[in-house]
Amino acid sequence: MSICFNNEAKQFYLHTRSASYVMEIYEGCLAHIHWGARINQAPLLDELFPHYVGGGFCASDLPGRITDSTDILPQEYPSFGSADLREPAIQVRFETGDGLIRFRYHSHRIYNGKPAPEGLPSAYGTEDEWETLEITLLDEFTGLKAVLNYSIFYEQDLLARSAKIINSGALSCELQQAASFAMDFHDDRFDVIHLPGSWGRERHIQRTSLDHTSIRLDSKRGSSSHNQNPFLALVRPETTETAGDAYGFCLVYSGSFMAGAFCEQFHTTRVQMGIHPHNFSLRLTPGEAFQTPEALLVYSGKGLGEMSRKFHRVIRKNLCRGNYRDTARPVLINNWEATYFNFDEEKILTLAEKARKIGVDLMVLDDGWFGKRDNDNCSLGDWVPNLRKLPSGLDGLAKKVNAMGMQFGLWFEPEMISPDSDLYRAHPDWCIHTPGRPRTEGRQQLILDLAKPEVCDYIINTLCGILGSCSISYVKWDMNRNMAEVPYAGHGHRYMLGLYRVLETITGKFPHILFESCSGGGGRFDAGMLHYMPQTWTSDDSDAVERLYIQEGTSLVYPTSTMGAHVSAVPNHQVGRITPLDMRSKVAFMGRYGLELDLNKLQEAELDKLKEEITFYKAYQQLIHCGDFYRLASPYHSNRAAYQIISEDKNTVMVFLFNVTGIPHMCADRIHLQGLDPDGVYVDIDTDKAHDGSALMYVGIPSDNRRDMLSTVRIFKKQ
Ligand code: DGJ
Repeated sequence: MSICFNNEAKQFYLHTRSASYVMEIYEGCLAHIHWGARINQAPLLDELFPHYVGGGFCASDLPGRITDSTDILPQEYPSFGSADLREPAIQVRFETGDGLIRFRYHSHRIYNGKPAPEGLPSAYGTEDEWETLEITLLDEFTGLKAVLNYSIFYEQDLLARSAKIINSGALSCELQQAASFAMDFHDDRFDVIHLPGSWGRERHIQRTSLDHTSIRLDSKRGSSSHNQNPFLALVRPETTETAGDAYGFCLVYSGSFMAGAFCEQFHTTRVQMGIHPHNFSLRLTPGEAFQTPEALLVYSGKGLGEMSRKFHRVIRKNLCRGNYRDTARPVLINNWEATYFNFDEEKILTLAEKARKIGVDLMVLDDGWFGKRDNDNCSLGDWVPNLRKLPSGLDGLAKKVNAMGMQFGLWFEPEMISPDSDLYRAHPDWCIHTPGRPRTEGRQQLILDLAKPEVCDYIINTLCGILGSCSISYVKWDMNRNMAEVPYAGHGHRYMLGLYRVLETITGKFPHILFESCSGGGGRFDAGMLHYMPQTWTSDDSDAVERLYIQEGTSLVYPTSTMGAHVSAVPNHQVGRITPLDMRSKVAFMGRYGLELDLNKLQEAELDKLKEEITFYKAYQQLIHCGDFYRLASPYHSNRAAYQIISEDKNTVMVFLFNVTGIPHMCADRIHLQGLDPDGVYVDIDTDKAHDGSALMYVGIPSDNRRDMLSTVRIFKKQ
């Protein structure tokens, strides 16, 4: 058993391969003792607080104990309503007007397997892979319960936490906040790593010393957003890619969220994550319950690289689902940057034909194929092909593309409605709005109110109708604005539940279709969406240099298998930069490879080059997406970047070397490989030269730094 309860010490132990998580029932409170390197037995909490701590200004609600106050006690799910005046994980307002909760241990159970939070995305696996501890806390004054869920995945040192709040009392209440988890570390010697950004520059790595302060990350935008990702890591100041403690936290949710690390007077750190309490409120009548989203918690004692690889394995194998989870995916061409709205069937077929000749498998028709949409002013909701542009309809076009030997894919933005659309004229009340107040448009569009079941049903029926009507092998599911003027508190979460129902139904009905989510690029790149769609369009910015930053930031949590990455034109449409085709292609190798440019404008030599690149990518895509990813050199710290992917059997190693700006008259850089067998012999497949594994790791390989925008991929095979 990896989870056990020591009845004498009143301590819970959750052991994974190299980590332990320990809690103690202390005066009925659920206290946190340890999360980190694996231990056999923890001291009692009283032994860790050998002298009396209390008095001062802390109210004494644990009289007679060494830790005299819950304001000092390291807690697992703190509430407002006793002496603990730090950040609460839960807040309620009862119909009497008060909001006090005093949770105490009530019961627990341990079982194999892992429950799936109803209606929400979550990690999954077999009864052998997961084991669960469920602890119920009770406020005896109101009957409110919190059932805390701790599911461990032994192999990856992963803990999935969530909470179910049950109103088992006689009074109704408004639930105003319910974090997915909280925990108190005993010190604050941490740096916080998070992934802020904006449209076109998502998930840039930020590392900030906690320095006895508090850091709150959030999105109040109705989606996980471009601006912050629902991820944070706490690391020691000395932690690097390869050494030191790293604690990673990732929320499996796609709506507004709040994550924070809060330092307190005793230099402790409370970390928590969950649905944003801002404008959140749900009524719980007696007997009703609320399920929080799940959070994934990973510990690594070997630095950030190992933390990321643990997230990658679990996201790849135990969060993403569907036919495409493990199989090779088609190389696609998307017409967006090739044509924008200005296309017709002939142009699409010409592009497809050129693409087919260089090895592309799938033609994706992006925005503009429906209604009278020639620009972004109209027609969202009118999912009827524009016969002026597509005279043989979707079915006719799909058949012609199929006849070339290619698959056909289609763009949708199903959650949206244009004020200038037949759908809006028929159902003006279906958009998110507050009657009597002005409504803000974003990109000239409104959002369909997925908190309404009839709107969700409409989307399901419409999409299923189209997807069943012709041969569609791929869907790009876009979402291009934030939510404004939401009609009531708690609406955002109801919207997410509606969206998840829609996604579960549609992706379940069409298992042969590859779905890629998108939100103006990577505005909803989160573990929640990945549960339904195994890849996300990483960013609208496909410039190779910017992509090094975005893809490296994204790789802190999400595997290469989830990142849509396309070769686009130069000058780049987002930043105007000119990068060599070779570099654009090598950067795109580290994701789900595709093209997003007008092939008619390329020279024959460039088309030949792309053909070679696609052949190479196809030969190695399983390695790229199923191997272990290492960050060897970062563009955040230098003018270069280097990454490594090693196959699960450790026999094939792929190294990516990029030099962004050249340095004149300088010795070559050395890049040190990682995770090889030091006694193994590795042969470079281009030169046939054998290399010693230890030398590849500890002496390194040279990386050319003399010119701007250099890119090299090297492959070593173990003999
Ligand atoms: C935003 C997406 O990120 C783009 O790739 C493209 O699909 C446009 N929307 C189309 O409107």
